[in-house]
Amino acid sequence: MSQTRGTFGRMGFILAAAGSAVGLGNIWKFPYITYDNGGGSFVLVYLVAVVVIGAPIMLAETLIGRSTQLSPVEAFGELGKNAIGGRAWSLIGWLGVLTGFVILSYYAIIAGWTIYYIGQCLSWSFGGFSADAAIGLDSSFGDFLANGPLQITFQALFMAMTVGVVLFGVRAGIERVTKVLMPVLVGLLLLLVVNSIWSPGFGEAMRFLFHVGPIGAGAILEAVGHAFFTLSLGMGAMITYGSYIGSKSSIPRSAAVVCLFDTLMGLAACVVMYSIIFSVSEAERLVTFSKSSTILFTTLPRIFYELPLGSVLAPLFYLLVGFAALTSTISLLEVVVAHFIDARHWSRRKATLVAGSAVFLLGIPAALSLGASPTMGSFGTGGVFNTLDYAASNWMLPIGGLCIAIFTGWFLDSRITRAELEKGHGAFPLFGLWRFLLRVVCPLAIVWIIYAVVGGKSFA
Ligand code: TRP
Repeated sequence: MSQTRGTFGRMGFILAAAGSAVGLGNIWKFPYITYDNGGGSFVLVYLVAVVVIGAPIMLAETLIGRSTQLSPVEAFGELGKNAIGGRAWSLIGWLGVLTGFVILSYYAIIAGWTIYYIGQCLSWSFGGFSADAAIGLDSSFGDFLANGPLQITFQALFMAMTVGVVLFGVRAGIERVTKVLMPVLVGLLLLLVVNSIWSPGFGEAMRFLFHVGPIGAGAILEAVGHAFFTLSLGMGAMITYGSYIGSKSSIPRSAAVVCLFDTLMGLAACVVMYSIIFSVSEAERLVTFSKSSTILFTTLPRIFYELPLGSVLAPLFYLLVGFAALTSTISLLEVVVAHFIDARHWSRRKATLVAGSAVFLLGIPAALSLGASPTMGSFGTGGVFNTLDYAASNWMLPIGGLCIAIFTGWFLDSRITRAELEKGHGAFPLFGLWRFLLRVVCPLAIVWIIYAVVGGKSFA
């Protein structure tokens, strides 16, 4: 069994889980939603959500994975068979597989933009970034989005890279790649953070990021929703990775490291981006900031090339974003692949190629919805791309997280959960607190989010 499923070596889980967590959510999404929501207070609520909701659910997912050594559908079926509800609990796993499918289909498109931008930046760095290029950036980015064949090409490229890693399996693929990419990622981001200390906007950036002011309910909800997305929770990604951990590793320690690391990387991305953004005058900022969700691809390159060393830093930066995205897409694909390996006894090769192709095909309408096809662009709310993102982050992840919290907190024997959390760790004095957060605080908070979404609040 373990021969086909695979296992992580020492540090394998921490690296892979951190790689899954740190992604476009940290570098693309977190800085712009924090910017939109006014900085400090939003950051504070998000930090509380990570500790109070994110960390407990990360422990729950990981322990379910390791205790069963199975992927989500089978894990819930196995653990649920003696509980009330029986094998129906495996529906949580099915929801997870479906969610992985959906998220990856649109996530790979944004991830593909990073490849395109590495090329763009290299050509700007060597060919010169002219005033014309700067002025034309918004419209050239719009043209890029509207170019269907280009969108599909870069989405396909990124999916091919993802499939290429997952094909090699848990240790030779996922673990080996994250082992190399994660330190590179940390190194690059540190370099950029240190560089930003000398930029004129650094002081203002720090003030913005840590200045606490009033905050609205909508922003609180958005911060909680983002905690799920950025920690890769709610769809069984951590169950799947957890199923590859050996008995000597400590789940609480690993989860704490992953949560802390993911949060630091998100904050570091903010420091880098805001230092650049606040380096320009407020008047210029107001003019150039038409749409915050595209900061990463329009405003940022423009300002990068005004900075000393910008032509070196810009391509490096997009390389970093691409690496971060890759270690996340492999975790999304692995959830789907592991399911076919466990449930259908497919070979890894077959499972990866079939799942990867299916995700790619599902992503095509989304890729065409950004300007290439008016039909795809008007589907659902704001086109196929936005509808998939909306469905996944507003519905599927919170509902998945709610079910995981309720199942683990209320239906799983506390002797099982305690034993799993203490295995490889020793006494876990925070067990009571963890269980309380999982049984009471997480479900209430998530129900509140869902209630708010029903009331019309969008997290997308
Ligand atoms: N956490 C990743 C990010 O922030 C995205 C991601 C990867 C994810 N795997 C996931 C989100 C599983 C939810 C569930 O970019």
